[in-house]
Amino acid sequence: MSSLQIYLQLAWLLILSALLLAGTGIMAGGSSSAAKKKKVPAIIVFGDSSVDTGNNNFIPTVARSNFWPYGRDFGPAGAGGLPTGRFSNGRLATDFISEAFGLPATIPAYLDTSLTIDDLATGVSFASAATGLDNATAGVLSVITIAQQLRYFKEYKERLRLSKLGEAGAEEIVSGALYVWSVGTNDFIENYYAMPGRRAQDGTVGEYEKYLLGLAEAAIREVHALGGRKMDFTGLTPMGCLPAERVGNRDDPGECNEEYNAVAKSFNGHLRDTVVPRLNKELPGLRLVYADTYDLLDAVVRNPADYGFENAVQGCCGTGLFEAGYFCSLSTSFLCTNANKYVFFDAIHPTERMYNIIADTVMNTTLHVFL
Ligand SMILES: *[C@@H]1O[C@H](CO)[C@@H](O)[C@H](O)[C@H]1NC(C)=O
Ligand SMILES: *[C@@H]1O[C@H](CO)[C@@H](O)[C@H](O)[C@H]1NC(C)=O
Repeated sequence: MSSLQIYLQLAWLLILSALLLAGTGIMAGGSSSAAKKKKVPAIIVFGDSSVDTGNNNFIPTVARSNFWPYGRDFGPAGAGGLPTGRFSNGRLATDFISEAFGLPATIPAYLDTSLTIDDLATGVSFASAATGLDNATAGVLSVITIAQQLRYFKEYKERLRLSKLGEAGAEEIVSGALYVWSVGTNDFIENYYAMPGRRAQDGTVGEYEKYLLGLAEAAIREVHALGGRKMDFTGLTPMGCLPAERVGNRDDPGECNEEYNAVAKSFNGHLRDTVVPRLNKELPGLRLVYADTYDLLDAVVRNPADYGFENAVQGCCGTGLFEAGYFCSLSTSFLCTNANKYVFFDAIHPTERMYNIIADTVMNTTLHVFL
C-alpha cells in the first residue's frame, strides 16, 4: 500500500469517527432541540449477509468476507478500501439508509468489542451472513440464529440502560429506533433447495414458506414486546437471478431460475398482504412496513443499461459465476476493474452501487414515513 493510500484510508476513518461523534453528540444532549427533531435515533438491524456489517468476523465460520477483494471500494476513491466483513465492495443498503436518516454513514457490527456506548447508541447490526429465519439454515455454516440475534438485542438494551444514558435514554432509543429485517433468501437457496432431505422433512415449498412467515412474525412480536415500534421487514429479491442460481439452473442454464423467483414473490405477497396488516392491527403502537426490493432488482436485472450497469449476469469477483466468500479471495486475478458497472460483486451479493440504489428506492417508496 502506498503512503498516499494509507493517508486516504486514515482520512476516511477520521471522517467516519467524526460522523459517529456528531451522532453521539446529539444523543448525549438528550434535551437539546436537535435530539427532539431526530425522529429515528438509531437503526437496528437483524438478518443475513445482505445486512451483516462484520459480525461473522468474530465467530468461527467460513461465511466470511473480511479480506480482499471485499471492501475494495469502502471509503474514499483511491484509498485502497477496507475489508470490514460486508459482503460487497463497499457499503450496504442499511449503511446508506442510516445516512439518509442523518445517522452515521456506517452501521457497526454488534460483536465488535471495541464499540463504545456512543457507537452503539445510534444503531447496530446483529446480522450474520448465511443465516435464515429457520434455525436449520443458520446451522449449515454455524452462524448466528435469529434467536441469538434477539438475545443480543436484549443484551444491547441492557447495556444502554446501565450506561450513562440510563433507563429513560435507553427507552428513548429502543422505542424510537427503526428496526430493519433482511432475511429469508438463505432459507430457500442455502437450506430448503440445497440440502438433500430438507424437502422430505419440511414438506412442499408452500408449507415451508408458511413456516418461515410464522418465524418472521414471532421475531417481530418479540422485538415489539421488548419495546420496538417502528419496523421494516424487507421482502426477498428475485433470488433466481443471482449469478450463482443462474449457473445452478439445470433446466435452463444461464437463465434466471423462475421457480425460485416465484417462491420469492409468493413469500413477499403473503408478508405484505397478511402478516404486516395483521401485526399492525394487533400490536399496540406498532408501525411495521414491508419494503419491496423485488421489482427494482427485477427491473435492473432485465434492463441493466437503464440503471447504468453493464453486467447483471456475473459478479465482479472471479469468474463471477459461483465465487463468494473465500473463493472470491482465491481468484482475484479475474477481478473486474470497475464494480460500479456490475449489479453483483460476487455470485450472490450486490455491489455498493446497487445497494445505494436499493437504499434510495426504499427510502423514497417506503421508509420516508419514518423521516
Ligand atoms: C431455535 O433455536 C433456539 C435456540 O438456539 C430456540 O430457542 C428456538 O426455540 C429454536 N426455534 C425453533 C423454531 O426451533
Ligand atoms: C428518490 O427521490 C429523490 C427526490 O424526489 C429523487 O431525486 C431520486 O432520484 C429518487 N431516487 C430513486 C432511486 O428513486
